[in-house]
Amino acid sequence: MTEAKADLFSSRRNNTNMGMIENELKLHIEMARAKYLKAMIEINKAAAPKWHKLRHLNSAVREKRVFIAFVGRIPAGFLVWTKDFYSHYFIDLVVVHPKMRRHGVAVGMIRAMENFCSGNKLFSSTNRSNKAMQKVFVRTGFSKSGFISNLDKGNPEWIYYKKVADRPTAPKKHSRPARKRKKSKKR
Ligand SMILES: CC(C)(COP(=O)(O)OP(=O)(O)OC[C@H]1O[C@@H](n2cnc3c(N)ncnc32)[C@H](O)[C@@H]1OP(=O)(O)O)[C@@H](O)C(=O)NCCC(=O)NCCS
Repeated sequence: MTEAKADLFSSRRNNTNMGMIENELKLHIEMARAKYLKAMIEINKAAAPKWHKLRHLNSAVREKRVFIAFVGRIPAGFLVWTKDFYSHYFIDLVVVHPKMRRHGVAVGMIRAMENFCSGNKLFSSTNRSNKAMQKVFVRTGFSKSGFISNLDKGNPEWIYYKKVADRPTAPKKHSRPARKRKKSKKR
């Protein structure tokens, strides 16, 4: 399972060195589609039944703001992001099914998000009491960027931040649009 941790947006390509079982348990992350909503609701119910944020899940999926992680073929977790945090990318929610934890699923989804918003500032947050998520942020290279009081009584929300490196393969941001080709003269 450790091998799977580093795999982002992995497909079932390049797996000739993997054993059959390892291959079957490979971490795979993709943009969530409506057909996965049922699985995501099940994950959320098992992971954090008291949360009500899922009201927005439908629209987030429609707007392509949700990654879903599979361990092999099993849906294991999901990540929801927005671009509403002072116009910056913000990871709103990370949830992993209790039976799928400590296998790098959360880290894998955050790396996928970093790939997605390469070259940008990425923010997220968690409660002071959520030690597991704080450790995930440390593991993924985020640092604390202040806190917000008065959301949950006596449990401030820590804001986390990471400046995501540009990927060499990422499309250039301010590149000029390609010039139109001159029409060839009619003969
Ligand atoms: C927090 C949560 C998303 C972590 O998911 P996960 O897939 O188990 O996390 P990972 O396996 O990627 O963990 C990476 C590292 O973070 C640390 N970590 C994660 N969970 C931990 C825990 N419960 N206790 C201590 N350290 C923990 C470990 O260092 C871990 O690496 P290791 O397993 O090699 O030691 C998951 O526990 C969860 O869904 N919790 C309920 C929902 C929630 O609180 N979400 C966050 C708020 S948005």
